[in-house]
Amino acid sequence: MKFTSQAVAKPYFIFAMVLFAGQLLFGGILGLQYIIGDFLFPYLPFNVARMVHTNLLIVWLLFGFMGASYYLVPEECDTELHSPLLAKILFWVFAFAGVATILGYLLVPYAELAEITYNNLLPTMGREFLEQPTITKIGIVVVCLGFVYNIGMTILKGRKTVINMVLITGLIGLAVFFLFSFYNPSNLALDKYFWWWTIHLWVEGVWELILGAILAFTLIKVTGVDREVIEKWLYVIIGMAIISGLIGMGHHYFWIGPGEYWLWLGSIFSALEPVPFFMMVLFAFKMVRERRHEHGNKIAVTWALGTAVMGFLGAGVWGFIHTLAPVNYFTHGSQITAAHGHLAFFGAYVMIVLTIISYAMPIMRGRPHGNPLVAQKVEAVGFWFMCLSMLGITLALTVAGAYQVALQRLPEDAQALSFMATQDKLMPFYWVRLAFGGTFIVGVLAYFASFFVASKQAALENQVEEEIGAEQPAVCCGSCS
Ligand code: HEM
Ligand code: HEM
Ligand SMILES: [Fe+2]
Repeated sequence: MKFTSQAVAKPYFIFAMVLFAGQLLFGGILGLQYIIGDFLFPYLPFNVARMVHTNLLIVWLLFGFMGASYYLVPEECDTELHSPLLAKILFWVFAFAGVATILGYLLVPYAELAEITYNNLLPTMGREFLEQPTITKIGIVVVCLGFVYNIGMTILKGRKTVINMVLITGLIGLAVFFLFSFYNPSNLALDKYFWWWTIHLWVEGVWELILGAILAFTLIKVTGVDREVIEKWLYVIIGMAIISGLIGMGHHYFWIGPGEYWLWLGSIFSALEPVPFFMMVLFAFKMVRERRHEHGNKIAVTWALGTAVMGFLGAGVWGFIHTLAPVNYFTHGSQITAAHGHLAFFGAYVMIVLTIISYAMPIMRGRPHGNPLVAQKVEAVGFWFMCLSMLGITLALTVAGAYQVALQRLPEDAQALSFMATQDKLMPFYWVRLAFGGTFIVGVLAYFASFFVASKQAALENQVEEEIGAEQPAVCCGSCS
């Protein structure tokens, strides 16, 4: 570690992993509830479990982005973090607010939660992904402001690299677009319209900048390729992401009320959105091919390449298949959407956080060249289990979605099956999804286990070194020099 203040990233990463485990527990429960409709009812209704699953995902990704920024910005700026203390305080504030909110979801009926958190004063609750009580949303804004301030001040006093600039632009965008979650007009069309300003402009806009910056940082570190080369790529990637994403947002405006011209604008611009994701694949593989040195942390390289590939598949390919208006007319809100949501979130954002953790954690734990080989092998098992299982989940849901469209959406009204009758027919695919959910969790457990294997192996190696050291003369004999 170049700067001691980088160590504030550690609790962020560890807590992110704890929440990740929680997210998957609820994913598993949801998968089961799809098959056994009243599983855990009335203690944990589907809508509550779903809210916990998706909210935990967003919150742990935010913890991951914050940890990543605290780790990489001091190194990029070549200076200590502006205020490690502020970073530590904000960690506890965010962790407390996050845990309290999840407990609120689980212990109190949602309407009551709205009442006791005074949602009536500034109503913001009740919308997918933005279910948090208003007070939690205010907490998130405070944490984000403090975080952006801390990172911003560090950048101001230090070296200004392209990676820093792209990252801080993404982080400011993240904070700004979250403000739309406070705008909750009673007109449903307007409400949905601006809901996407947070939802879409995050994942298909500013988060892509954060993704690009973290990926570029990791690639520079593990390949030793010239910064200038990486920076040129980064400019083009983020330029394409912003241009295509801002108007591509129109693919969410097809059926909610805004003008018909969005059918064209949304289709054409969002069809360009896969381009930056594809460029990330080319970029990552080119950097690794032209690497200047072999980094000891091989599994971090695998994660970086994996992020590019899986992000492209999830966002680029699975985004494209339902983004054109004539297709989306039939697939809107079907299992195709869920297939894409899973692979895109996993491939792009889950994996980039796991990438930076894989690179930075060994360094923060005193192993600059990566974990011992056995630990890297265990981590690789985790990598492959997670990636293949998520592809399995995605394929199961894609087939379910196509079948759903065929039974429920394509036929004329009189012949079309009802929603619930269609769901019954999709049961086998939900079993497959559940099975892959199980293997996904096995992968995550292997990933977690690699941390413990690393400590154990390192302790063993130290012990051996000490024993050998004890047998050697304390003063160097000079024969080796
Ligand atoms: C990493 C980036 C991305 C993530 C994390 C992501 C995630 C999601 C999620 C979770 C939804 C469901 C939202 C809801 O609850 O209704 C969604 C919807 C959608 N996404 Fe993405 N997405 C990404 C990129 C893309 C790209 C690049 C495209 C197009 C090429 C795309 C096309 C769509 C479309 C058309 C919908 C609407 C589906 C419907 O009508 O039901 N997405 N996305
Ligand atoms: C890193 C792994 C995961 C990520 C990133 C993730 C992400 C998501 C997202 C974004 C949604 C909302 C989808 C939408 O609105 O279209 C969702 C819903 C859901 N997830 Fe996951 N999830 C993960 C793991 C799992 C696992 C392992 C399972 C279980 C097998 C699971 C089961 C579900 C179910 C059943 C829903 C509700 C879908 C619906 O409303 O129809 N998820 N997840
Ligand atoms: Fe979108």
